[in-house]
Amino acid sequence: MNINHTVSAATGKLGILLPGMGAVATTLVAGVIAARKGIAHPTGSLTQTANIRLGKRTENRNPKIKDFVPLAPLENIVFGGWDVFGDNMYEAAVKAGVLERHMVEQVRDELQTIVPMKAVFDKRYVKNLDGQNVKPQTSKLALIDELLADIENFKIANDCERLVMVWCGSTEIYHEAKEVHSSLAKFEEGLANNDADIAPSMMYAYAALKSGVPFAMGAPNLCLDIPALEELAALTHTPIAGKDFKTGQTLMKTIVAPGLRARALGVRGWFSTNILGNRDGLVLDAPENFKTKEVSKGSVLEGILDGEQNPELWGDIHHKVRIEYYPPLGDNKEGWDNIDIFGWMGYQMQIKINFLCRDSILAAPIVLDLALFLDLAKRANLSGIQEWLSFYWKAPQTLPELEPIHDLFKQLEKLENTLRYLMGEELITNLGMDYYENVEEDVEL
Ligand SMILES: NC(=O)c1ccc[n+]([C@@H]2O[C@H](COP(=O)([O-])OP(=O)(O)OC[C@H]3O[C@@H](n4cnc5c(N)ncnc54)[C@H](O)[C@@H]3O)[C@@H](O)[C@H]2O)c1
Repeated sequence: MNINHTVSAATGKLGILLPGMGAVATTLVAGVIAARKGIAHPTGSLTQTANIRLGKRTENRNPKIKDFVPLAPLENIVFGGWDVFGDNMYEAAVKAGVLERHMVEQVRDELQTIVPMKAVFDKRYVKNLDGQNVKPQTSKLALIDELLADIENFKIANDCERLVMVWCGSTEIYHEAKEVHSSLAKFEEGLANNDADIAPSMMYAYAALKSGVPFAMGAPNLCLDIPALEELAALTHTPIAGKDFKTGQTLMKTIVAPGLRARALGVRGWFSTNILGNRDGLVLDAPENFKTKEVSKGSVLEGILDGEQNPELWGDIHHKVRIEYYPPLGDNKEGWDNIDIFGWMGYQMQIKINFLCRDSILAAPIVLDLALFLDLAKRANLSGIQEWLSFYWKAPQTLPELEPIHDLFKQLEKLENTLRYLMGEELITNLGMDYYENVEEDVEL
């Protein structure tokens, strides 16, 4: 396949709007400013640091992704957003405590200028938060109008050519799709009736999509996974992607599990527990909010080690996930995994993983990549669910009839081949027979 999708250039400024300006968002913004100043490296971001192979192995073409596809350069990005707390991004970064003070001080002037707009917030959806920087609870339609105006005003005030929105707000309570979510018409009726089943995150997503702004869902919220918003994305030709940033323990799972699968090793149990002490941990301490995270994390393992496909090896996996709020650790999460596996003749073995990770350090580059790739998708005229961005998600969004792909390496292959496809390069299958066919021809000659 060699199709050149026309991708328009990334000219002018790109505004990245962040509903939720806590630990992840402030770490992202501080990192981008620090990278622009040359005082920190954007490690972990594919768009900034990774290479992509093009053509045959013998061609030695391995450009940086950012030199291969037209992405907005860091210099052209401006940030804005909303939060329930009125702290500017400097104050929020200090409170989040992810970055050392000396680093935050070096980007203080820039961070101080970014002040969150008033949030659309409903405490029923986030039990453990109380903030004052909230739009007065009028009607849902009035709140949507305010969000639409915020988006438009930000674009004009910052002279942006394009915008993207990435939800970095809290995890909302677990709720399932209902009638009001089943179509755009019902959803809009629900807005007019102040339907309690329309969560704040859905209202941000609705406002973004209505404005033609690509939207990504960083938390495990139901939000985008409803026909109403999928319909709106299609109607406004806007890319969407979700959900739940794949960091820490789930990242490890999607690295280790494909290896066990590849070697046809059996798995009896996988017990994962985390202790963390940041605001995210506090929110997840409420059982209704934890349930949302638990469901999102749960599907990863079953998606890779499919017990229906291979009951002998993975038919009876005891998979358990625990998250404990433990303030002394702050953003420095500790994750333990105990994996009970078995091999040849059923002999048992164990793997223990102790990952001392920093959640926001792993999440920040994901937000940057998603923003830049969604902006690319929009300029390439892609719309609706962007499954090629599954790489970044714990629970990748797909069409209802498709099983999501969780294996990190397959996800990377999908992402890289999508970039090759968009730029009219040959897709790479790793078949490699042609190298040997040429050798045979040479011998015959
Ligand atoms: N850090 C990670 O590794 C990681 C991984 C996957 C998902 N996530 C998710 O990303 C989100 C952000 O994580 P974090 O560590 O920055 O959390 P955080 O608590 O530090 O920041 C979230 C912010 O969102 C704000 N908020 C909540 N509801 C809002 C609303 N309706 N409108 C505007 N702002 C709102 C909160 O006031 C808070 O400041 C969380 O939902 C978390 O579950 C994080």
